[in-house]
Formats: sequence, structure tokens, C-alpha cells
Amino acid sequence: MTFQFLVLNRYFSSSPAMAAAIKNVTVIGGGLMGSGIAQVAAQTGHRVTVVEVNENAIEKAKNGIQNSLQRVAKKLYKDKPADAETFVKETLSRLHTSLDLKDAVKDTDLVVEAIVENLDLKHKLFSTIDSVAPNHTIFASNTSSLSIQDIASVTKRKDRFGGLHFFNPVPVMKLLEVIRIPETSDETYEKMTAWGKALGKTTITCKDTPGFVVNRLLVPLLAEAVRMLERGDATARDIDTAMKLGASHPMGPFELADYVGNDTTKFILDGWHQKYPDVELFKPIPLLTKLVEEGKLGLKTGEGFYKYDKGTK
Ligand code: 3HC
Repeated sequence: MTFQFLVLNRYFSSSPAMAAAIKNVTVIGGGLMGSGIAQVAAQTGHRVTVVEVNENAIEKAKNGIQNSLQRVAKKLYKDKPADAETFVKETLSRLHTSLDLKDAVKDTDLVVEAIVENLDLKHKLFSTIDSVAPNHTIFASNTSSLSIQDIASVTKRKDRFGGLHFFNPVPVMKLLEVIRIPETSDETYEKMTAWGKALGKTTITCKDTPGFVVNRLLVPLLAEAVRMLERGDATARDIDTAMKLGASHPMGPFELADYVGNDTTKFILDGWHQKYPDVELFKPIPLLTKLVEEGKLGLKTGEGFYKYDKGTK
């Protein structure tokens, strides 16, 4: 072996650009976000395993993915029903489900965690898989409210840890926020970003700050809209119309709050309020608290700021 070959070989094998691409992905949590992430990954040729805690949750995830895939197929293959069918079939052939967390990560390149926003549960999960996942496996969280560094703290692979924050509905929204903690290696960051691009997303990079970019701007907007309604400045319908026609937002703040879930918005705000109790913008909003206490969480419960017919998507 020549000296030149050795030098080149060493350069390429340690170069982030030459690092093996992510092929096998494990998504933990098959809720709305987890299902969406799994679907898009399978659509773009990745082998995906979705991990859930029981058969019921798996069935729900499968049904959600099937419905969403049909919508995507219809859009991609308008006048070609046979191609649409092949697309759905091939995508589903790359999608697997599992109830066995340890088994599901044993030969994966990337784990994307999309479980409930509970730090203790996330710690339990990541410390369990840290010892069984291969050395090269990257761990990422889709958290929208917790600190990536706090989540990563229980693992021994902080250099292979980051945030991958998707937006609902994942198959439609084009953005992916890639979050680096100080320990995230360049190679991990490059791989996460390349994977986002392979999914067809546009990636942006953000430090591990509360709400990253989008939620830090969007959640205060929702909060201010609720305060406006509380004060009686305008009706929910008029505030929504104003933001759709005056700012070209695809949904008004109340439609969006109902779409995201009032519990989610409240959870994010409460977390920030705990951390920054003096910031006026993050303080609890009685109307939002009342809706959540009454179970009026939005689209998913049939009522939030608006009422929805059963079957509304
Ligand atoms: N799966 C697949 N396709 C879907 C879909 C889904 N779940 N939901 C919508 N679509 C497709 C539809 O099939 C339709 O396709 P077409 O153009 O070929 O007909 C297209 O998207 C538009 O959908 P609709 O016609 O049903 O309705 P709209 O035109 O009103 O669009 C919307 C729906 C895409 C949700 C749009 O209103 C929108 O962009 N809203 C804003 C959403 C947003 O801001 N999301 C971010 C929330 S914040 C977040 O997620 C962060 C978290 O941490 C809280």
C-alpha cells in the first residue's frame, strides 16, 4: 500500500461527506408526528421500524399512515392509478412495526424519538437503547418543548445526539429543524442534515434553545391571539380571517391552535414559564387553561376554539 493511498484512505474514511448515509431508521412513538416521520422516511426509500407500546397503538399508526399515503399518492400520480398503487405498496413494504424496543434498534442507523413530552420517560428510553444500539447509531429527538441537551444527558453518545424537529402534517410541511448541542459532532450534524434532504425537506440549523426557531415565534403568536380573544378585542373567526388575509398565513391562529392541540400549546408555554417566570409572554392564559381542563383540545377531541364534525381531518 502506498503512502499516498494511506493518506487518502484516512482522509476519506474520516470525512463527514464520505460517512455512510442513513438507510435504516427506527421511529419510537407512532402518534401523529412519529407516523408522519416514518411515512416520509419510507416514501423516500428508507427501511423504517415504528416502535409502539401496544397493538392498538400500532393499528392506529398503520391506519393513519395508510390514509396519508393515499393522499400523497393521489397528488403524485394524479392520472396514473396503477403507479399510485405501486408507490403505496412499495412504501408500505419498507415500513415495519415492533413492540420490542431493544430489538428494533439493534441494526439501525438512526433513532428518532417522538414519544410524549416527558423527560423521565425519554431518559428511560434513551438509557435503555444506548447500551443495545450499534456504536454508529445516531439518536435524535423530535421534542418541541424540551432541551435536547437535557434529553441526551443520560447517554454515552452525546456526540451522536441531536434534535430533528418536524412539523405537522409531516408529509406536507417542507421544513426540518436540525438541532445541535455543543457535543454534537460535525459528522453527526452532516448526517442528520443529509438525511433531512434525502426526505425532501429543507433543513435549517438552530442551537438548543427553547422552541428552536418556529415554535419560539409561532407559540407566542398563538398565545397573543388567545389573550386578544380573552380581552374581547375581536372574535376568533375575525382574528383568523385577519391573519389569513392580512398576513397570508394558511391557517388563522385559532385554527392552528386547534390543529396542533391546545394541550400541546399549553404544555410548551408552561415549560417556558417555569424556566423564565418573569417573561410576560409565557405566563399562563386562563382561557387556554380552561379549554384544556374541559378536554377541548381541538381537532383531535372534536372541539377546541371551534367545533368539528366527526371525521374532520
Ligand atoms: N397527509 C398527506 N397529505 C396531506 C395531509 C396529510 N396528513 N394533510 C393535508 N395533506 C395534503 C392534502 O391532500 C392536499 O393535497 P392537494 O393539494 O393535492 O389537494 C394538501 O395537503 C392541502 O390540504 P387540504 O386541501 O386538506 O387543506 P389546506 O389547503 O387547508 O391545507 C394544511 C392543510 C397543509 C394543514 C395547511 O392548512 C397548512 O399548511 N397549515 C399550517 C400548518 C402548520 O403551521 N403546521 C405547523 C404546526 S407547528 C408544529 O407542527 C410544531 C410542533 O412542535 C407543535
